[in-house]
Amino acid sequence: MPTNSPTCCSLKNEPQGLNAEHDPSTPMAASQPDSQATGTYVLGTDAAEQQRLSQQHALWLSSAQEAWGRAGLAAGERVLDLGAGPGFVSLELARQVGAGGRVLALELSPSYGEAARRAAAEAGLAQLEVRRHDLCSDPLPQEGFDLVWCRWVAMFLPSLEPLLDQLAATLKPGARVLFHEYVHWSTFGLHPDGDAVRRFGAAALASFRAAGGDPDVNRRLPSLLAARGFRIDALRPLPLLGSPGDAGDAVANWLESFVDVYGQQLIRQGFWTPTAAAAASAEIAAASQDPGAYWMGPTVMELQATR
Ligand SMILES: C[S@@+](CC[C@H](N)C(=O)[O-])C[C@H]1O[C@@H](n2cnc3c(N)ncnc32)[C@H](O)[C@@H]1O
Repeated sequence: MPTNSPTCCSLKNEPQGLNAEHDPSTPMAASQPDSQATGTYVLGTDAAEQQRLSQQHALWLSSAQEAWGRAGLAAGERVLDLGAGPGFVSLELARQVGAGGRVLALELSPSYGEAARRAAAEAGLAQLEVRRHDLCSDPLPQEGFDLVWCRWVAMFLPSLEPLLDQLAATLKPGARVLFHEYVHWSTFGLHPDGDAVRRFGAAALASFRAAGGDPDVNRRLPSLLAARGFRIDALRPLPLLGSPGDAGDAVANWLESFVDVYGQQLIRQGFWTPTAAAAASAEIAAASQDPGAYWMGPTVMELQATR
């Protein structure tokens, strides 16, 4: 089995995801892979992955906004965005807190950070600052944050304790933390006839683990936070289901894009083969002709807690 460098961080081949329209004129498309980065991020940061991430964000935006509403995010607040990627969510958070608030986006990948910086400048969101930061080793800024947001990042960290210890030590009493991380990645699947897709899912899981991550990290996060003095306010599973025959189905588009884009990464990493990829494509094509076929997404869980 090939090994990805299980360094603390990771910037290599990120997963792709949801289909969202990506405007090639945006700064994201101009971003380059992070060949200069010290670590390897298993999903990568190339243009295809950035587009996939954009699609994924579009699909999950309403879930994020609902979570912020439940956590009482208000104009003027100070927000910390952990592992912000190309800044899709950071921009939304900056709009939510308005000019009187502040969002500090921390991101390991220089190219993602630069994309986020450019997008903030183009959108005129001066309240958004983006900083290069390794969540495994760099000290968290202490700015009296009101809310911390973390989505699809903890799952890639080989060690959670340094980050969680710092959150406990630096956040003020009453600060809220919100995680959207997977709790049961293996619900990912195409039914009823998705054996090649199931093997793709197993290969994806193996690659995440080989890079030092834990795809089901949200099974552990609530206890780890409680042990550090956080009050657990809510745990909420967020399942997704899609129809492979519907070209407008955002869930199906996301998952099919993931198989396509991350499949290429898995082949490069040695976890999958072109023959297996062709079998998965044939399965997906056959499923699109079956009105009863359906996709299930890997299950995210919302974790809301208070310091
Ligand atoms: C799947 S993306 C999610 C991006 C963003 N949170 C979102 O929801 O769109 C995972 C992100 O975590 C970042 N990341 C991984 N390891 C990191 C680390 N040690 N420190 C900071 N960021 C990290 C990656 O560079 C990538 O941008």
